[in-house]
Amino acid sequence: MSTTIETILNRRSVREYTDEPVSEKDINTILDCARWAPSGLNNQPWKFIVIQDENTINNLAQCTHYSSIVLGSKVLIAVYLDNAEMYHHDKDVMAIGASIQNILLTCVELGLGSVWLGEILKQAEKVNSVLEVPESYEFMALIAIGKPVEKERTSSRKSIAELTFENKFSKKWIGSN
Ligand SMILES: Cc1cc2nc3c(=O)[nH]c(=O)nc-3n(C[C@H](O)[C@H](O)[C@H](O)COP(=O)(O)O)c2cc1C
Repeated sequence: MSTTIETILNRRSVREYTDEPVSEKDINTILDCARWAPSGLNNQPWKFIVIQDENTINNLAQCTHYSSIVLGSKVLIAVYLDNAEMYHHDKDVMAIGASIQNILLTCVELGLGSVWLGEILKQAEKVNSVLEVPESYEFMALIAIGKPVEKERTSSRKSIAELTFENKFSKKWIGSN
């Protein structure tokens, strides 16, 4: 199996991290892979804020139900949609999803763990104020990153047959999974 397929299949959301720091080099690799995601018209509608400052992390932790994940992480990346670069809201949001997936997969390759935090969007205004982000930017996600605490992580998915159809919506795709 190719490394890419293994990485996709082995990635799990990681919510517990060791005290080991994440290197500047790894952060730059993550950002590089994030910016190489595809986007409509190649308009690259994303902006990233790398957060390592303890005070800022504490303030962000107060914006979410998942404060322990935020407090335990070594690096946070806030992902924003730059409305000035936007050409189609839905397509740009999808492009941002692709760039976030690149972040998550790159973390796996670097031996890091990460989780995509979306619940914090409920407090987007508070987050924008903590990060001093101008109004024209839309908060998309917070990614928590760190060296994973070793433990088994499981997840599940619906079968391909439940999700897929053959030629027409009326006929299920009969796959092997
Ligand atoms: C849009 C989105 C929002 C998410 N928000 C949260 C969140 O706020 N807190 C959290 O712990 N996990 C969050 N997750 C992670 C999901 O819970 C996780 O991806 C899902 O349970 C499948 O598990 P897996 O990533 O280990 O395969 C989010 C994932 C996505 C894609």
